[in-house]
Amino acid sequence: MRGRRRYHPRVDDAPDPRRDAAVQQALAELGCADADELRVGGIAVRELAAGFGTPFYAFDLDRLRARAQAVQQALGPRIRLLWSVKANPSLAVTAALRAAGAGVEVASLGEFGVALAAGHGAGDVRFAGPGKTDAELAAAVARGLGCVHVESADEIDALAAAAARHGRRQGVAVRVNLPQGSAGARLRMSGDSSRFGVDLDQVPALLRRAAGLPHLELRGLHGYAGTQTFDAEAVVAHARALAAHRDRLERELLLPLPELDLGGGFGSAHYLGDPAFDLAAAGRGLRELVAAHDRPERRWFVELGRFLAAPIGVYVAAVVRTKTSGGRRHLILDGGLHHCGVAAGVGTVLRRPPLLVPATALRAPAVTSFAIGGPLCTPQDQFAEELQLPACGRGDLLAVLGAGAYGLTYSSTMFLSHPTPAEFAVERGAARVVRERGQPADALRGQQL
Ligand SMILES: Cc1ncc(COP(=O)(O)O)c(C=O)c1O
Repeated sequence: MRGRRRYHPRVDDAPDPRRDAAVQQALAELGCADADELRVGGIAVRELAAGFGTPFYAFDLDRLRARAQAVQQALGPRIRLLWSVKANPSLAVTAALRAAGAGVEVASLGEFGVALAAGHGAGDVRFAGPGKTDAELAAAVARGLGCVHVESADEIDALAAAAARHGRRQGVAVRVNLPQGSAGARLRMSGDSSRFGVDLDQVPALLRRAAGLPHLELRGLHGYAGTQTFDAEAVVAHARALAAHRDRLERELLLPLPELDLGGGFGSAHYLGDPAFDLAAAGRGLRELVAAHDRPERRWFVELGRFLAAPIGVYVAAVVRTKTSGGRRHLILDGGLHHCGVAAGVGTVLRRPPLLVPATALRAPAVTSFAIGGPLCTPQDQFAEELQLPACGRGDLLAVLGAGAYGLTYSSTMFLSHPTPAEFAVERGAARVVRERGQPADALRGQQL
């Protein structure tokens, strides 16, 4: 044993999800603040597991719609809320958000297809992303997509050529990379040199070019500073700068830029210790900004993924094996990184435990700490190095809260060729499968010798 670090679990040292404010908030968002077991839309995840097996996602669509309406209310009537499909390309989730009045923003033809299947008209869809191919642009134009947010100079020409071929006048906006970026975003996507958007000093030439091409209809500007911003003032500050640049560019270029997509990036808790985002403060700041810059012909947008969907979804996996190694207790689940990337820290720099709770024993006292990981053959497939939990053994259910965004869509689903998890939607007290569980045979799909 010499040279090997012995691990001595000390319950008091390991993080305890029951004492974490973000976990308590996440449980409250699901209506489980005082519950003994986890329920989604009133249905115990234990029942779903008993009936259909694990692992799975469950989404509360009633709460999702209510959330979208609350966000729209906070933004006020002049800002249109858009759902960013990338956060969760579930058809059921996208359709529920459409029913709640949200517009939609996509980043691929696949997501465009989800938006259409969810009932959006093609003309209402907006398409952003730094690497759209000519073929994707042509397909989007052919299907009547509303507005393409171009992110580089040559994308304008590819789009104009596609629009000319289809005899269409294609709506277009330019995504701007503001030099100041957003100080608050955990994952920054603007400021400095960036793959995203067009540097501010190059924007005038692009706008002139777009305005001069007969098959393009220049609509305006888009800015997206980054994701996981917990500082509402940072979101508003970025939007303010964007609005000021739009006014200046309109003046200097004498070009109308009626549409402005202010981005978003409102933070939502995924990890122990995460703060809460102040929706009221962001809404107030954005409403004031719009009031200061508004004109009747102007249209304003905010695009959100995580903030809308993360809190209404859970990922549930079962313990398949337990063991003690180096003095540490391990729980090995039937799900992990390949299903719920966000819980395994994908996209984070400093890994912290996710909002993980024992699904059938929410209020049971912790007895010891466990390392919790999945079945993949990589050390990255670890949800927590140590977490205080009640007694846990084979068959017990663990749930990741805040998993309604960047779950399956943000996961390396192919690694080890495990089947993908089922997804349930719960609505008006009834659960239904909205994405079938994958099969082991899926590993061979599309392959040939
Ligand atoms: C352009 C754009 N819009 C919207 C989003 C959605 O962000 P979030 O899920 O943090 O709201 C992203 C996320 O990366 C994005 O890149």
